[in-house]
Amino acid sequence: MKKFLVLLTALVMVLGLCSFASAEDVITIGFAQVGHESDWRAANTNDYQSTFVAENGFELLFVDADNDHAAQLDAVRSFIEQDVAYIVICPVQEAGWETVLGEANDAGIPVIIADRGVSADPALYTAQVCTNMVLEGETAGNWLAEYLDGADANILVIEGSVGASATLGRTEGFNNIAATHDNWKILDSQSGNFDQAGGQEVMESFIKTYPGQYNVVVCQNDNEAYGAMDAMDAAGVTYGVDGDVTLISYDATNAGLTYTLEGKITCNVECNPMQATTVKELIAKLEAGEAYDAMTIVPDSGFCAPGITSEYAVTITEEIITSRPF
Ligand code: AHR
Repeated sequence: MKKFLVLLTALVMVLGLCSFASAEDVITIGFAQVGHESDWRAANTNDYQSTFVAENGFELLFVDADNDHAAQLDAVRSFIEQDVAYIVICPVQEAGWETVLGEANDAGIPVIIADRGVSADPALYTAQVCTNMVLEGETAGNWLAEYLDGADANILVIEGSVGASATLGRTEGFNNIAATHDNWKILDSQSGNFDQAGGQEVMESFIKTYPGQYNVVVCQNDNEAYGAMDAMDAAGVTYGVDGDVTLISYDATNAGLTYTLEGKITCNVECNPMQATTVKELIAKLEAGEAYDAMTIVPDSGFCAPGITSEYAVTITEEIITSRPF
């Protein structure tokens, strides 16, 4: 009996140590998300929330900043106070990060900038995982040049949220290509906040201001494109492969690509939201003290409507849409 009790006590101690060890092993991540402005963002949030789970050894502290830079700074400061192991930031805006990144640095907490970029000195953060927004803009511009084959372009742009690197990069990339075409004119370029209501509102105002004067509308994400389509439908403006207006979008979510398959969005440039696994692999390297890439670019493709062949975009099919996770 005494032997049995000794064995039992030893077993309880081992089990206790095991559970203590596993609690210690949990890696807490503070995740400062932009908001919930788009279907892309929902897919990105879902990717993080299903990757950084307890089964994988993580606790994810999630804050939705509702597209508010100040709220996002507060979220990062609260993560610093809670002494999380890592902070991941998808920045609402590119500028204004120096002070809080310095605070995280002082606290010894590694910061990973994800999805979008910041203008701060890269020495203030550990690594970045993002898509190449300038290249996305250039892909849209190159595709348009190829599609128009020398015809004039009178272009309206519905930009994303003001100051976001996604907006700045796509605008810069598209303008780089536009600048090489004398017969392209950007009539107007206004923010639609990366959401459907914003896209609709800006398009309604463009329709009033530039009646019959434009043949290209560029929306900097799919949700804005849905709003712009609603506005054009209501005003009797035709768009897509059979319409008067060539409609370009970004994101290439499955809903956006379904409109591309239907020929309504003529070209849709991908921005890949599935970035959490790359961030998880980066954290595994940091944990192991292994070498890591300070900058990882998540690759994107362009997609165009059926019947169009392009050097810059893949012709969309039903199979492509069903094979994609977002
Ligand atoms: O930063 C990625 C962009 O932000 C996506 O294009 C857009 O849908 C999102 O809101």
